[in-house]
Amino acid sequence: MRLAKYLAAAGAASRRKAEQLIVEGRIKVNGVLVIEPGRVINPHLDIIDFDGQILKPQKKIYLMLNKPAGYLSSTYDPHGRPTVMDLLKGIQGRLYPVGRLDLDTRGLLLLSNDGEFTNKIIHPRYHVDKKYQVLVKGQLSEKALRQLRKGVQLEDGLTSPAEVKVLQTNTNSTLIEMSIHEGRKRQVKRMLAQVGFPVISLKRTAIAFLDLGNLEEGQYRHLDPHEVKGLLDLAQSGVPEK
Ligand code: URA
Repeated sequence: MRLAKYLAAAGAASRRKAEQLIVEGRIKVNGVLVIEPGRVINPHLDIIDFDGQILKPQKKIYLMLNKPAGYLSSTYDPHGRPTVMDLLKGIQGRLYPVGRLDLDTRGLLLLSNDGEFTNKIIHPRYHVDKKYQVLVKGQLSEKALRQLRKGVQLEDGLTSPAEVKVLQTNTNSTLIEMSIHEGRKRQVKRMLAQVGFPVISLKRTAIAFLDLGNLEEGQYRHLDPHEVKGLLDLAQSGVPEK
């Protein structure tokens, strides 16, 4: 088994970061420093240590959190701001967010200690739909709707078409539901800003077939095995982008 895969399975990091840990000289195999990212090990015989601690394969954990605004989607913040980890009371072991939500974005965030799972779900090659409820400034125009449904030109290229439904039009704002499958940084906010309707508030309500249900803000629940398998099947069978 590749060392990076073992590190990801043991919850040390996502698969990509695991290779970085090796290159950074933080991993020893049987007491000997290893820096080749492609190193192969025997998971039954070899003793792997990460920053001086022996790693053992962990029980896999998959959670869904209803993230409130004001929590960072990361494991640690050097500035001491609250992170989603502060909401996972009672969970043993290191978990990592599966993708990110902005500090002020609320809603569905997956977390896991299974680096392989994380990699598959967030890999941009595959289409995993993410649905958002978005309150935008002003009354969304037909022209903006057409642009969003066609794809919007951003600094990092043309986006895929979004699915957009208008839920409520108010005097100074519009509530919409928007689904996208790419995972670019701040994508929903950037697409809406680009078509002239800045986002006031953003909430992710679903990832593929998983929705928040009646999970309260700040609460989490474990995914059941069918949900985990369903997500993996979807990511694996997803249509790769051109
Ligand atoms: N798009 C955004 O702009 N922000 C998020 O947090 C998620 C998607």
